Parts: sequence; structure tokens; C-alpha cells
Amino acid sequence: MKTVVKNISELIQTESSPRKWVAGKEMSKLNTIKEAFLEYEDGIITSFGNMEEWKGIENWNNTEIIDADGGMVFPSYCDSHTHLVFAGSREGEFVDRIKGLSYKEIATRGGGILNSAEKLQQTSEDELYVGALERLNNLIKLGTGAIEIKSGYGLTLEAELKMLRVIKRLKETTEVSIKSTFLGAHALPKKFKNNKDRYMDLVINEMLPIVASENLADYIDIFCEKGYFTIEDTKRLLEAGKKYGLQAKTHVNQFNSIGGVKTSVELGALSVDHLEEMEDHDFEVLKNSNCIPTILPSCSFFLGIPYGPANKLIENGLPVALASDYNPGSSPSGNMNFIASLGCIQMKMTPEQVINATTINTAYAMGMEKVLGSICIGKKANFFITKEIPSYAYLAYSFGDNIIEKVVLNGKLI
Ligand code: NIG
Ligand code: FE
Repeated sequence: MKTVVKNISELIQTESSPRKWVAGKEMSKLNTIKEAFLEYEDGIITSFGNMEEWKGIENWNNTEIIDADGGMVFPSYCDSHTHLVFAGSREGEFVDRIKGLSYKEIATRGGGILNSAEKLQQTSEDELYVGALERLNNLIKLGTGAIEIKSGYGLTLEAELKMLRVIKRLKETTEVSIKSTFLGAHALPKKFKNNKDRYMDLVINEMLPIVASENLADYIDIFCEKGYFTIEDTKRLLEAGKKYGLQAKTHVNQFNSIGGVKTSVELGALSVDHLEEMEDHDFEVLKNSNCIPTILPSCSFFLGIPYGPANKLIENGLPVALASDYNPGSSPSGNMNFIASLGCIQMKMTPEQVINATTINTAYAMGMEKVLGSICIGKKANFFITKEIPSYAYLAYSFGDNIIEKVVLNGKLI
């Protein structure tokens, strides 16, 4: 049966055909239709336009009607970088940082990622699933309709597979579109402290073949950073991933620019994420590539580190994606509305740029730009309806508030 959403004060991010991404000056443009309707059937958008047009073709038979009551309709957020599956929280480290310790000092003491790994190894698959599902259900209410989720808090064969199986279960049991990323090379377990190569052997020769044969991952990732994994490790891992058909999405340039952007681009990465520390040559290698720079503003907010250079990327004609990095250590929130606010308030992006960066561009960063990220005939009916708001800029302006009234995923009212 067809469904029509009527009385939409403004339909946001409409497209006549799917674009790859939105880059440079185009990021300042946003297509919208005022006083609009949206029609979908079997979970797919079939028509949209001005209310007047719809009234002309109106056929009440066999049509379900949803009244937007003057609210706006946005395509669901795509959150292209998260660590949603985790065990426990790390507010102890949060307090330590308030008192003056740095993220690095905490990690050196065995805290940080290793702290989360220890907790996760002791948690059952079912418990992990329940915790992640609860977080995911909360994110749905906040407008997220697609999410990428990484492993990387397991750091043993068994625990990495456990995490990836939880992600698989979330894929099978929720209406959210999910992509899974294998991040076995997230941090060096204590046991391998003086033998990083042996850990890389474990990741490449033991974990990766099983991850691939069980179809547990769509992408592969590594934390390429001083004190974590080097450029050599990154090359080795991404080349191995390629052999198994896994494209890369990498953690690079969070604290230092050590060449991770170049290596990732050369090895065909879909996205390079973080980018708090960028040098001129990092911008150059992104030009003429198919790799999308992705910034994680809530990580900068939470850790008090610089924000990625969104405007400089845009001035260079590049696209920018914004994702949440939801994780217990550096971004304990996956609220994409807050990401939009940080983009505007802290990074001086305009509302149009922020909406492009959290919908079409993050859909590209998950390989889903043909099916998600905009209101376009043939794409999935994944969207949210807001309260009556004065303009689309209000979304980022009203930070900390939730203006979302209704959520539709795959054509189903959630
Ligand atoms: O993206 N930087 C690496 N990984 C995560 C944080 C991991 C943690 O602190 O638990 C990130 O920020
Ligand atoms: Fe991350």
C-alpha cells in the first residue's frame, strides 16, 4: 500500500537523481520543496513534490496518510563512523582528564582502548547485543537511519569475532541500514607490547581470513597514529584487506599527521576519518581521489582537541562528511543533531553544509549513496518528521533539544 506524508512545511535534501557526493561550493546548496508531500511504497520513495500537485492527483483509495502537521521532513542521518558495540563506560577516565591527565597519558597507563577491550572480553555476546540495541534504539529516535559500526574493542580473535557477530545480529534485527568494519588493529594488546609484528600477523593471518569467510565485515580499518600503528602496518593491513575484497575506512591524523591520508588514498580507501591534524600535502592527496574526508566533531568536543578543518577542505573543492564516532572513550554520544550543531557552532559550517555532510556525504562514506542520504525517487523511505520549526537552520541552532517527532525507516513508522 502507498503511503503519503502530507502537509510538510519543507521537504529537505531533495534530488532528481542520486549524486555521488556534494563537494566544494556545492556544499553550500541545499534543494528543498516548500509545502510538500512525500509518497512511498514497499519502503521505497515513489514520488514527492508540492502539495498542490498532489491534491491534483489525489487518490484516497488504498493510500495511508501521515499528516506532518506543518513539520519538516529530512532524510535520516547516515552516521558513517561509530564504535557502537562496547561494554561498560569510561567516566573514570573522563574525570582523570578533567583533573589534568591527557588521553595519551591515560592510554599509556593501560587505560583507553585497552580498558574497553578488557571489559568487552569479559562480556557475553548477548549482553553486548542488548547494550548496543538499546543505544541504537535511542539513536533512531534522534534521527539516525544508517550507521557504520566497527569492531576493535576485542583485540583477540574470539572477542573481535564476538563484536562482529553482534553487529551482524543488529543488521538482521533492526530497520537501520548497517555497515560493519573490522578494526582488529585498533590498539596493541599488552601481551604484544614488545612484539607488534606478531599482533599484526594475528590480525592479518588469523582474524582477517575468518572475518572474510564468515562475511562479518564490509570494510577494514586501522588506527594509524603515533603509539598505535605505523604507516608500514597500515600498508600491510590494507593490502591484505584488499585481497579479501575489503575496502578501507581509516582512523588517521587524530593527533599527528604521519602520512596516513596518503597511504589510505593510495590503497583505495573509501574514507579517511578524524583529520584533526592536517598538513598541506594531506589536502593535495585527497584531490582527484574517491576518498571522502570525514570529520568527527564530538570527539574534538569531548577530548578538547582541535576540530578538523572543514572549511579548508571545502575551499579546496573537496567533500566533507561529519560522523559521530560514538564510543565510550572519545565520544560517548551518537546524537547526530549535536554533530550538526557542532559543525555550525564550532566549525563555522553553514546549516546547508552540515546537512549535506551528515546525509549524502555520509551515505557515500558507507557506500550507500545510491540508496540513502536524500529524498529521491528509488531511494529508501528513511526520513524523520520534525515538530513545526521556523526554518531548517533551527535543527542545528536548537542544540541539545530533540525536535524530531516521527521516524520512518524502510517505509515503516517506528
Ligand atoms: O575514533 N581513535 C581511535 N579510536 C576511537 C576512540 C577509542 C577509545 O578511546 O576508546 C576514536 O576516537
Ligand atoms: Fe573512531
